[in-house]
Amino acid sequence: MPKTYSKYVCQQCGGQYPTGYGRCPGCGAWHSLVETIDRPARIRGGFPRVASTTVPISATRLASVESVEHRRLRVPLEEFNRVLGGGVVPGSVVLLGGDPGIGKSTLLLQVGNLVAQHGGPVLYVSGEESAEQVKLRADRLGTIADDLYMVAETDVEAIIALTQELKPVLLIVDSIQTMHTADLDSLAGSVGQVRESTARLTRLAKGHEIGAFLVGHVTKEGSLAGPKTLEHMVDTVLYLEGDQYHAYRLLRSVKNRFGPANEIGVFDMQGQGLTEVVNPSALFLSERQERAAGSVVTVTLEGSRPLLVEVQSLVTATHFGLPRRTANGIDLNRLVLLAAVLSKRAGLPLGTQDVYVNVAGGMRLSEPAVDLAVVVAIASSMREVPVGDVAVLGEVGLGGEVRSINQAARRVAEAGKLGFTRYVVPSRSMRELKDGAWGDVIAVDTVSEALSALHCAA
Ligand code: TYD
Ligand code: MG
Repeated sequence: MPKTYSKYVCQQCGGQYPTGYGRCPGCGAWHSLVETIDRPARIRGGFPRVASTTVPISATRLASVESVEHRRLRVPLEEFNRVLGGGVVPGSVVLLGGDPGIGKSTLLLQVGNLVAQHGGPVLYVSGEESAEQVKLRADRLGTIADDLYMVAETDVEAIIALTQELKPVLLIVDSIQTMHTADLDSLAGSVGQVRESTARLTRLAKGHEIGAFLVGHVTKEGSLAGPKTLEHMVDTVLYLEGDQYHAYRLLRSVKNRFGPANEIGVFDMQGQGLTEVVNPSALFLSERQERAAGSVVTVTLEGSRPLLVEVQSLVTATHFGLPRRTANGIDLNRLVLLAAVLSKRAGLPLGTQDVYVNVAGGMRLSEPAVDLAVVVAIASSMREVPVGDVAVLGEVGLGGEVRSINQAARRVAEAGKLGFTRYVVPSRSMRELKDGAWGDVIAVDTVSEALSALHCAA
């Protein structure tokens, strides 16, 4: 392949320079120059490629375009299929992000092995570990399929050539930040290299109908490292989440061109890799003490999936200074707001109390539909009154009103599956629950009504 030329382009002002500088000579922005391929054709002709082509293009009837549904490759790991929207779409590119050590390599090696057993050859490219290291991990996962190939390589061109020869159904690249092309002078992991490597691998996947999985490193802030455009370039972005103290892992789709976004799959990290969790609600409630004050069950919706979780609160007298508010698993600002609503609208004297809230199992809740459960947990702890086996649902407004939630029926149904028969739900969501035998449903309009119904009002 002839050597292409590269140039440095400022991401702020668009200025172009033959070499890189720490600061853009044009606009003065720091670290804004990114190395980019400069195609010789453009240097000579000066016209954009599309304008100079004379090959006529034609349009397709949309109705006659083949649907991807029946071409999906189903991995014998249902939780994984679910997150992708039903299986791997040939020719699609999936980016998998997550903290170091969370299990990205383990998950993809496992998926690769399962596909290689039945679906066809799989190529696992490791830019971080040697073949021996990957083998060590694979040995823990059980029998290694004959059709699972691996290479420790970081040169994108070499990987593309190998892929074209091997013709795998699945290509796994671990990780995209270690890949580089000799056409750019900058180091692997730089914005230019990551972008160019992704573009070339994407072209390869689309051209040969290969399902490609790229592992992406995340920054300290938790977003994918490299260019912001990385997430736009791929079809699907998945994150593997969890924390080091718990064995369960959540695989979440944040973008998906081939299925619903925000879908989650739940896995358990064991000695033999990740296993599927068939009933995650039962897992999250497994250590709950029903008779403890301050413990309340609610149902959160993750994508299309309702999950039962336990919200815990502990309220203790403040000994000196300002009362503390500590939140684990919910947003601290939300907790401060809810505590203020409880004081002002329900008359709970929280001004002299420290309030701690924790979501059991290390789950993170961001939905307002869990507000009422947080509020009830605080009141229950303060008054030392256990609420027992009841699922509490509702968003709380600043006026102390309980606002409607979406998909109330699905949430209540999930709680019912786990044996709950009592529910506190917003009156405004009752319309959704009109038909159906739900058991004992308590409809509330305000926080005070909810607290009275559960015997923990001020
Ligand atoms: P890994 O897949 O290497 O993480 P990542 O690629 O996201 O950095 O997983 C590393 C962790 O997983 C490591 O702490 C060991 C643990 N692990 C298990 O608990 N069970 C297993 O079967 C395997 C392979 C790893
Ligand atoms: Mg890894």
